[in-house]
Amino acid sequence: MQVLFQVVRQNANSEPHIQTYSLDVEPGNTILDCLNQIKWEQDGTLAFRKNCRNTICGSCGMRINGRSALACKENVGSELARLQQISAANPDSGKSLEDIPTITIAPMGNMPVIKDLVVDMKSFWDNLDAVDPYVSTQSRHIPEREFLQTPEERDRLNQTGNCILCGACYSECNARQVNPDFVGPHALAKAYRMVADSRDDQTEARIENYGTGTQGVWGCTRCYFCNSVCPMEVAPMDQIGKIKQEVLDRQDDQTNRSVRHRKVLIDLVKDGGWIDERRFGLKVVGNSFRDLRGLSSLGPLGFRMIAKGKFPLGFEPSEGAAQVRSLINAVQQAEANQTESSTN
Ligand code: SF4
Ligand code: SF4
Ligand code: FES
Repeated sequence: MQVLFQVVRQNANSEPHIQTYSLDVEPGNTILDCLNQIKWEQDGTLAFRKNCRNTICGSCGMRINGRSALACKENVGSELARLQQISAANPDSGKSLEDIPTITIAPMGNMPVIKDLVVDMKSFWDNLDAVDPYVSTQSRHIPEREFLQTPEERDRLNQTGNCILCGACYSECNARQVNPDFVGPHALAKAYRMVADSRDDQTEARIENYGTGTQGVWGCTRCYFCNSVCPMEVAPMDQIGKIKQEVLDRQDDQTNRSVRHRKVLIDLVKDGGWIDERRFGLKVVGNSFRDLRGLSSLGPLGFRMIAKGKFPLGFEPSEGAAQVRSLINAVQQAEANQTESSTN
């Protein structure tokens, strides 16, 4: 079948442009097969990374039809089926199913382009390094032979251990895009792997470190993109959630604003079924009148909201408040039971 490949090409510090290649391919051909065919038969100047061709090395991350993925994992047939679904759901998109099928390929995001589909992953590696991704046994007696773990302890490492450091999650991370301090989903998934490792002796220091400021877990906006693109089902956002829970189990709402934000949000939703925004600002930013500087920082925003008629003067509890409360109570009880059974 005839398929067009629109490839975003670029040299460092130059404007990107699109180059279109026409290929005769089979539905089962991977996107990497197609890029190889372009490079070997049509244009040897096209640059992209690859190695294992088998979803192992993580080298071939790129944006395929708008989302980051591995070129050796996705194939022509599944990509075209995906495009058909998108165009069926958006009949006004201007795309006709009669057109020659077209697959777009672009470099990953959140990292500068070196050439074509090859990006500079320095910040990705530096941020991984920032979470100290090595098991520490410094203060422990090192056994003469291996460090034994129970099967249950080892099982806790399986999901995060599947990460092949491909960069797809980092490429799509919204928090990373606006906050240059945020270390990114790959690093925090690895951070949870360290927290969960029974051999590591730095758990408390790690949890404090990962829960400080917005470079760690509190910088995540919970957009879910990392979970949706990860080719290895590492679910970085879920791992971030587990670290957050470890932080919340240890710190009260006076420790920092992020912890307060989380606890106040749950308290207010439990109270009224949704958030009373007036109390939210006072409790989180103003720390219930303890933080006068924080409180005064709300002034300009408050005045602007009043001027635009957007300041909520009253608060009506939601009609489903009792139901919401019982749901939260049930989840909290289930979590408490889970914690109790895992410590017994
Ligand atoms: S968490 Fe998933 S998407 Fe992110 S680097 Fe690891 S394998 Fe790739
Ligand atoms: S869920 Fe958090 S870590 Fe994952 S992509 Fe969104 S902001 Fe980034
Ligand atoms: S070439 Fe190794 S993961 Fe794609």
